Amino acid sequence: MNKLWSGRFQKSTHKLTDDFNSSIHFDQRLYKQDITGSIAHAKMLGKQGIIPKEDAELIQKTLYEILSDIEEGKIEFDIAAEDIHMNIEQILTQRIGDVGKKLHTGRSRNDQVALDMRMYLKDEIRVITAMITDLQKVLLNLAKENTLTIMPGYTHLQKAQPLSFAHHLLAYVEMLKRDKQRLNDTYTRTNVLPLGAGALAATTYPLDRDFVARELDFEQISLNSLDAVSDRDFCIELLSALSIMMMHLSRFSEEIIFWCSHEFQFVELDDAFSTGSSIMPQKKNPDIAELVRGKTGRIYGSLMALLTTMKSLPLAYNKDMQEDKEPVFDAIDNVKMCLPVFTDMAGSMKVNKDRMYEGAKGGFTNATDLADYLVKKGIAFRDAHSIVGKIVFACIEKGIGLEDMTLDEYKAVSQNVEEDVFKAISLEECVNKRNVPGGPAEEAVKKAIAVNEALL
Ligand code: ARG
Repeated sequence: MNKLWSGRFQKSTHKLTDDFNSSIHFDQRLYKQDITGSIAHAKMLGKQGIIPKEDAELIQKTLYEILSDIEEGKIEFDIAAEDIHMNIEQILTQRIGDVGKKLHTGRSRNDQVALDMRMYLKDEIRVITAMITDLQKVLLNLAKENTLTIMPGYTHLQKAQPLSFAHHLLAYVEMLKRDKQRLNDTYTRTNVLPLGAGALAATTYPLDRDFVARELDFEQISLNSLDAVSDRDFCIELLSALSIMMMHLSRFSEEIIFWCSHEFQFVELDDAFSTGSSIMPQKKNPDIAELVRGKTGRIYGSLMALLTTMKSLPLAYNKDMQEDKEPVFDAIDNVKMCLPVFTDMAGSMKVNKDRMYEGAKGGFTNATDLADYLVKKGIAFRDAHSIVGKIVFACIEKGIGLEDMTLDEYKAVSQNVEEDVFKAISLEECVNKRNVPGGPAEEAVKKAIAVNEALL
């Protein structure tokens, strides 16, 4: 089969050239966007009288047929036709002859591929955003059940102050909210029609670009033909937004992994989302969380790959840019695998409230509250901090907690300490006194849940 561009060539391409140059094995997934874009282009060509209306109609009708044939698995793509764009055009021309050859009037593969990628990304951003919302919903439901579940909060992975498990979960709900905002921003900048940019210098035909934009649901048209075919910043933005989102999932995975360790036992993963060992019969491993954590690396890798591919390309199109597809596709595929399984794993895990409470009881997580109590009794905070530090040291020596001290022992520290100290340093009080907006108190957490539910 002659190449669509073979006119100026005396020889056909080497088999190695075809294999190396061809992208059909990975860009065939763009068939729907490619055909939809071509249908809008053909319709516009007919409307503008650039090609006869009957020809435009035959092209559109045949493209619809090709679309359904592809969907029914009836089409085999041709490596020699290089990519999805030329494969579709070749099939079209095989079916309707010379009329099919008119489709590419006023268009280049350079603006065509930019269009296909933008359409594809718009679709996928919607899907991924919905998946993130599903995860947020699961976390909110889990949070609702755990507004009174006290757990230790950590800094430096050392016990710091008590929190509720709900508050911890809501931290991730906030991160995911920003992840969706970033995707939404990416969507806005992706939502610009490049078609009409031609190879690089637009075209002499009187194209109606606004018409095509409306047909294909693009918010704007690009304002510079060179820019429209040259940049892949929208792909890089997507990879960046996905990398950040995966970084959040990876941190969450890491926490789940140690929460379900024997040392913590804060949660237990459902059997359906755990795996065993081929040698150690007792094992129940958090492979799902580990794999999400692990896949984060390859999403970052995709971001780095495309940034590096693009960094010194002169304007306008260069074939290097065909290398945008695999990293973008791989990142999207993997994110779409991670999110639903992570959501179901998180939604089905059993929360061990007693273990969390026990964990919060150790490690003097109420020490700040004891210092605050002394402040209320008239001692300066810096002095109170030092006094409590000494009490903590004494308690460590005795192997007891602050709540195990007697009132007399407290009176020896300060005459002003009274019986109410025990309530003040109870874990419930430590959490629920922190009732500023954004704090872990039950009331504040319930408000945060309500705000987030309204957003979803
Ligand atoms: N398959 C190419 C890509 O993915 C399409 C654009 C090719 N354009 C060209 N002038 N060779 O980038």
